[in-house]
Amino acid sequence: RIPLVIDTDPGIDDALALLLAIASPEVDLKLVTTVHGNVELAQTTENALRVLHLGGRADIPVAAGARSSLVHPQAERAGHVHGAAGLGGVQLPPSPAALDPRPAVVALADLLLSSSEPVTVASIGPLTNLALLLGVFPEAAERIGRLVVMGGSAALGGNVTAAAEFNVWADPEAAQAVLTAGLPTTLVGLDVTVPTVLTEAGIARFAASGPVGATAASILQQYLDHARSSYGTPGVVVHDALALTEAIVPGTLGTVRRSVVVDTTLGAARGQTVVDRRAVSTAPNAVEVAESVDSAAAVEFLVERLEWLSRS
Ligand code: BDR
Ligand code: CA
Repeated sequence: RIPLVIDTDPGIDDALALLLAIASPEVDLKLVTTVHGNVELAQTTENALRVLHLGGRADIPVAAGARSSLVHPQAERAGHVHGAAGLGGVQLPPSPAALDPRPAVVALADLLLSSSEPVTVASIGPLTNLALLLGVFPEAAERIGRLVVMGGSAALGGNVTAAAEFNVWADPEAAQAVLTAGLPTTLVGLDVTVPTVLTEAGIARFAASGPVGATAASILQQYLDHARSSYGTPGVVVHDALALTEAIVPGTLGTVRRSVVVDTTLGAARGQTVVDRRAVSTAPNAVEVAESVDSAAAVEFLVERLEWLSRS
């Protein structure tokens, strides 16, 4: 089983990603670190604790990380998408577990330095914690076996601005530091997440499979309504769950090695991932950019795992 850390800002699709990891025997979720992003840090942290409890895994440590981005504070949170408290207006029961007293970067460094096997880190929020890890514990960052990042886009433009995807836009300086650090990184951007739509029929399947699935479906309801009214789509894009699928089953996505830099200027392109798609890169700090996906298979994987978790 692959040792796994999830760095997250729950967030509706983050919640599904956490449940997916819990439901997947290929990985051993050893630590969850939280970051500011969709909502404030105190709320993302509380949400992470509660979602793990919902999934029956309150034993997994949760350590709180950065409360704001490295340089410029994030202009706005994403309460209009995820609900003011981040989980689509659903109040989950509190977890009996206490927060890990260590700051996220310390917990992450401890785990990376003590693990006998390569650890996969899935980053599904702004990249602030990972950038801090690189700055404070570079020897621990070097031990990351695989970094799977939900963020950016290669050809599709942005979702929060015309140019930028939310996680990169929320802390472009951190994203630039992480994506050019030469870590073994797979970048899962909007190019592959946006076509991967979890439909109402899929949601209905895990909703019917037991209380955990029913709660997951209720968390998705507001997100579904938002998607229906904003884009007219008959389902939701669960970005973070797709990134987790790639972390759980490496090779789920078709990737190409590319040079990527992040626009950190203060203009209209701030937070854009500038992906050099002219050629396959041989640069040591290039990253694997996800460019193809079997969306139907990915959605089926998620639905089946959530059904299984609800039944067990
Ligand atoms: C990303 O932004 C957040 O709102 C989602 O949780 C996901 O991580 C998608 O752009
Ligand atoms: Ca997220």
